[in-house]
Formats: sequence, C-alpha cells, structure tokens
Amino acid sequence: MYWLGALSFVAAVQAQGFSMNMLRFGCSQAVIDRIDPLVEPGMLPSSHVHQVVGGNAFNATMPSGPNADISKLATCTSCSFSEDFSNYWTANVYFRARNGTYKRVPQMVNDQIGAANAGITVYYTAPGPKTVTAFKPGFRMFSGDSSRRTSPGFGKNMQSCFRCYTGANFGGNTYAPCQDPQRDTETFPKQPCPGGIRSSVIFPICWDGKNLDSPSHTEHIAHPVSGPAQFAVVGAQCPSSHPVKIPQVHYEIVWDTRQFNNKADWPTDGSQPFVLSNGDTTGYGQHGDYVFGWEGDRLQHAMDNRCFGPTCNGLKTQTFDKANQCTVKSVVNEDTDGWLEALPGMAEHPMKK
Ligand SMILES: *[C@@H]1O[C@H](CO)[C@@H](O)[C@H](O)[C@H]1NC(C)=O
Ligand SMILES: *[C@@H]1O[C@H](CO)[C@@H](O)[C@H](O)[C@H]1NC(C)=O
Repeated sequence: MYWLGALSFVAAVQAQGFSMNMLRFGCSQAVIDRIDPLVEPGMLPSSHVHQVVGGNAFNATMPSGPNADISKLATCTSCSFSEDFSNYWTANVYFRARNGTYKRVPQMVNDQIGAANAGITVYYTAPGPKTVTAFKPGFRMFSGDSSRRTSPGFGKNMQSCFRCYTGANFGGNTYAPCQDPQRDTETFPKQPCPGGIRSSVIFPICWDGKNLDSPSHTEHIAHPVSGPAQFAVVGAQCPSSHPVKIPQVHYEIVWDTRQFNNKADWPTDGSQPFVLSNGDTTGYGQHGDYVFGWEGDRLQHAMDNRCFGPTCNGLKTQTFDKANQCTVKSVVNEDTDGWLEALPGMAEHPMKK
C-alpha cells in the first residue's frame, strides 16, 4: 500500500496515451556491508556502509571489462526477475538521536510487488519498444556524487530526491519521482514523515556507445540536454558526445523512519536527524551504484517488447521466498545495526566541531 502513488502515476501516464516500456520489480536485501566494488574496489572496509541487492557475485572486488559477465559468476539473485544478476546499491540512512548515537533506519517492504525483505525497487524504462540499447556485460555506472553537499542545479527535474510520505497512501499524488515540486526535495525532509521517507535515484539515459565504464563511473554516460529525464521521456535529446539511448535505471527505497518520529529525540536546534551512511546530513550526497548482470539478451528483450511492471513475456521470475534466500555474506566484521557512537567508517559525527 505504501507504493500506491507510483502505480497511480503509471495509470495516469497510460491514460494520457504514452506508451512506455517499464520493468518495475523488487530486489530484496542481499547484504549490508562496507564494501564498494565500483568506487573503492578491493578496499576492506570501504569508506561507508551500503545496502546491496541483486546477484550473489557481489564482492569487494568484482571482475570488470568486456569479458566480465556477472550473470555467469552469480548463482542466485535477490531480484524477482531470476535472470537478473546485476548488483544495485546505495548508501544507508541512519538516525542520529539527541544523545548523539546512531541507529540504522530499516527499509520498508514494497508490499505491492510482494518483496518480503525490502531492498530496492528497480525500474528500467524506455520510451517505447526498440528505442534503447541495453547494457553489455561489463557495463557499470554511478549516479550522483557522494561528496556533494549543495544542489547540482537540475531545477525541477531532479536526479536524486526524497519524498516525505505523509501516511500510508503518502498523499496519493500522481507525479513522477523527483518531479513533484510540492513533495520532492534534494534534501532530507525537514519534518517527521508518518509514512516513511522515499529515496529515488535516477541514472542518465545517454551513453557514449563505446566505454563500459569510466574513471569516475559517470563520464561514459550523460543526461539528455534538457537534464535528468523521468521515465525516459519520449523525445529526450542525447548530447552528441553520448548519442546512444540506454534504458533508464531508477532506484526507489523507502526508509521506515516511523520509529524515529518522536520530536523529543530530534536535535534541539530544529534540524532533521537523518544522515546518509557517508556522513551527509543534507541529502545532496545521495547516490547509486550499478553493475550490469542480466543474462544474455534478456534486458534487450524486455526493452524491445512491451513489458510493464514485475512480469514480462519471455522473462523468468522467481518468488520472493526464493529471492530472499539469495544473500551475500558480509565480509567486513563490524556492527552496523546497534546504537552506534559513530557511523561505521566515520571517526565522529560530521557536524561535531
Ligand atoms: C570474495 O572475495 C574474497 C577475496 O578475494 C574471496 O575469498 C571470496 O570467496 C569472495 N566471495 C564470493 C562470494 O565470491
Ligand atoms: C540514546 O538515545 C536512544 C533513543 O532515545 C536510546 O535508545 C539509546 O539507548 C540512548 N543511548 C545512550 C547511550 O544513552
């Protein structure tokens, strides 16, 4: 029920006659760990905690390049499409109590699509059949900037945002994520959110057509000239440097902040108490990591046919009972879940003088 808004948005889009291809499916949590094979390969531990979903080939170091077919390395996936062994991950959200200790904020179950162990709801969209080129083995990318603490200036079309769910139906709006000027912000909501806080991270939809990756994992991809585009809008123009349209990847995570809504535990100066695991108290540093791992031509197949939601003619799915059994063993031995004196990897609170 928490996700009704996204579906009513979809219904509104369909009613307007747009034809889009949109996979929208759940991936349960595979592991929470302080490793990052994309940005800090081999680092044990990496600089901050992540929540990770997808295939079980996830590790501190993962093979890269055109011969690195992740779908052949993984033996199971936590996603409901059982041929998708990609890995998807983001920073976690922590609550900082008035006494200065931290507690990890759990994630909500996306009960609309049946995920039993909430991780990420993943979207792949295209403006219509046969309009995009699916990723190739070895493809990886990054959206956002972990060190950012000010707005990137995308205006109304945000690349990353938070939405304050005002209740179980979170207001029943029909705006696309990161486009609702009333409810979407690039920063953490300032008020308690009775229905939790949704994070959305949107990846660019234009590719240089050559490189599977790039030094900062963002140079081989680009937003359309008009800026970040929601749901791969029809007619979006890619820059000439990045002429190839790729599926739009988009993550949604709902943080269950309900147990942290007691204002008596919030900072006395009136600021909000949530912080990303990278130490960012603003929210501008929200980011997403992606390592492609679909089997064979399955993603291209989905993008070339009119697929919608958590099923697609020709693609195999699995139950969440099965998906939830696919977990990855944490390799960094540390407490990420108790009441903590500091965020894992951070010596002290970033706001502390
Ligand atoms: C992860 O990497 C370590 C070190 O290279 C290795 O020992 C371990 O087996 C790997 N785990 C998986 C699940 O591949
Ligand atoms: C800090 O505050 C939280 C929330 O009220 C509480 O659960 C925790 O026990 C407190 N920790 C200490 C060390 O006082």
